[in-house]
Amino acid sequence: MMTSSLKHRPAIATSPDKMEFAADVIHGLSQASKSLSCRWFYDAKGSDLFEQITELPEYYPTRTETRILQDCAPAIVARTEPGSVLVEYGSGSSRKTEILLSALNKLAAYVPIDVSEAALEDARIRLSAKIPGLRIFPVVGDFLAEIDLPASLRQKPRLGFFPGSTIGNLTRDAAQGLLHTMGERLGPQSRLIVGVDLIKDPAILIPAYDDAVGVTADFNLNVLERINRELSGTFDLDAFKHRAIWNATQSRIEMHLESRRQQTVKVLDRTFDFAAGERIHTENSHKYSLDGFTELAGKAGFETLERWTDANTLFSVHDLRFNPR
Ligand code: AVJ
Repeated sequence: MMTSSLKHRPAIATSPDKMEFAADVIHGLSQASKSLSCRWFYDAKGSDLFEQITELPEYYPTRTETRILQDCAPAIVARTEPGSVLVEYGSGSSRKTEILLSALNKLAAYVPIDVSEAALEDARIRLSAKIPGLRIFPVVGDFLAEIDLPASLRQKPRLGFFPGSTIGNLTRDAAQGLLHTMGERLGPQSRLIVGVDLIKDPAILIPAYDDAVGVTADFNLNVLERINRELSGTFDLDAFKHRAIWNATQSRIEMHLESRRQQTVKVLDRTFDFAAGERIHTENSHKYSLDGFTELAGKAGFETLERWTDANTLFSVHDLRFNPR
């Protein structure tokens, strides 16, 4: 469990440390089915590549969610008490947040949580200039990182914001558990705005994760580059191929890195053998039906107040209230 203290610093320096990265990589590559956690994608280069993904013509989620948020922001604001604290999970560049921040003009503070300290710092600088007077308390960590606010802000109502379909990275069971924990942390009757990608034709889904210019391939392969740099790895990036697969049974896109030949790779003091065609599973991106997500949120203790989608029902935004029985 990661903890961060906000007491005397503007940003927290407790980045997920190298020990954890090493242990996780070695564990993942030691399994019969090799895997790596998608959280390691987001070093400085990975965060930058993800920003490029969001601008690709094939990658519909970001621009679709942005449009939905522009339309539904007034309704979200109408339900939000003045003086609330906006807590964003996986804030990245915080670009979509600007839509809410400019509509929610009576916020007590904005708390962006992200694993990338670089992304948090860029966002803090940009937002401070754009929205003067906004109090920003960045937290480096995962979604369950401890939020330690100044005493004056601790009792304020909280509005959670979990956009981008980041929740899709988790299995359905884990997503339910995470939502419930977020609800408990935010407090009873708190609201949570969640962006959720929808099930659709694989002919739209696959190119979104395997784009023509290869930015997503670079994003996927970058995790190997990071292992080489931070964990003395010997991965040959040309010896692995980016793969995006639609798993219809689980309603999810899976990203893999496929070994182009038989090879042996070193990471720290360990060696890992790859057969030709063997894959490392690097990411899941689960897709939901509108009712499927509402049902999952219900099991996590959230009542759905309203949900919005675009004209082509590509993506959805859900306004939830934590109301556990
Ligand atoms: C940031 C997890 C929402 O699943 O669409 C984009 C990550 N991976 N292209 C997604 C991602 C490949 C993205 N999320």
